Amino acid sequence: MRTKYRLLPENERKSPPPKGTDLPFGMLRTNHMFMMDYADGEWHDPRIVPYAPISLMPGAMCFHYGQSFFEGIKAFRHEDGEIYIFRPDENAKRQNHSADVLCMPSIPVETQLDAIHRLVDVERDWCPSEPQSSLYIRPFMFATQDALGVKPSKTLLYCIMLSPSGAYYKGGFNHVVRLLISKKYHRAVSGGTGTAKAAGNYAASIKPQIYAQSFGVEQVLYLNADNTCIEEVGTMNHYHVLKDGTFVIPEFGDSILRSVTSVSVLELAAAGKLKARQEVVYLDKFIEDVKSGEIIEAGGLGTACVVSPVGSYIFEDNSEMVVGNGEIGEHSRRLYEMYSAIQTGRAPAPAGWLSKVPRY
Ligand SMILES: Cc1ncc(COP(=O)(O)O)c(C=O)c1O
Repeated sequence: MRTKYRLLPENERKSPPPKGTDLPFGMLRTNHMFMMDYADGEWHDPRIVPYAPISLMPGAMCFHYGQSFFEGIKAFRHEDGEIYIFRPDENAKRQNHSADVLCMPSIPVETQLDAIHRLVDVERDWCPSEPQSSLYIRPFMFATQDALGVKPSKTLLYCIMLSPSGAYYKGGFNHVVRLLISKKYHRAVSGGTGTAKAAGNYAASIKPQIYAQSFGVEQVLYLNADNTCIEEVGTMNHYHVLKDGTFVIPEFGDSILRSVTSVSVLELAAAGKLKARQEVVYLDKFIEDVKSGEIIEAGGLGTACVVSPVGSYIFEDNSEMVVGNGEIGEHSRRLYEMYSAIQTGRAPAPAGWLSKVPRY
């Protein structure tokens, strides 16, 4: 299948924001997007077209039954002026996992990578180079069949859009978050869709997020269904750091999203760059260890903010539990610096982590 290009004439294209612009996260769009249709059991017509509204029938199943998922990937401009995408193959594999969970068709990893590379190549002028900025890549797939009744859609659309973005939080890594430990709301359960980037998971997280904000904090730290174990944050995996500097990430199990960032941290640990492991994190023990000082730092891991340090946890009785001294710890800072140096080419990347965008 050859990708077709239907590009805007040069004089109808928007220009990228000038160098030095303080970019918001996820708000800006480039001129083009990638699209591919699924029908008759096959993917058809891969194409790069102007970024524009999509026309769907009101009966399209994505509107009614939420058969839809997405991915999130970042591309960085290195000092050599070339663009490098961070581990897109990991996201492509996870996309196929999400597709499987939601009974949607997979797309070969190579086909996904080709689509991403071609689109980013067309929009390469939009990849920023300022510190903490990136070209955010958002692949997504949704059901388009005009049919009422809950079943797998026979037709789908796969799209990729791009957003030149700055740091997720104003202040970037230096923004310290507080998390609500909620026993009221749950993100996922064993046997559910928590391991997929299903759109519905995020729809269901909006109310808990507003609930968290009513406690004056940003996000919820979700527990498992019986409130005994720490799972993850709405858009990040969770970590804590022990006194000896070991990062501990909750075991993925079957209700936690397999974060590419967490996987990468564990691979860096396996290569001897830091100490990290996964284990089931029991809430009672976590609280005991934060209070005794056995746990000295904590935070979130995810593509959007990379490492997001947590200063304290709020409970539903409004009590607060501070981690360490409530500020950014040295281990979290070191991890953030190591990771972003790899992404931006200031430190050597492990083999296969950076995918250079070809010039087609
Ligand atoms: C629920 C959830 N957990 C964790 C993450 C972090 O995953 P990654 O590191 O692949 O971005 C994300 C973001 O993709 C997420 O939505």
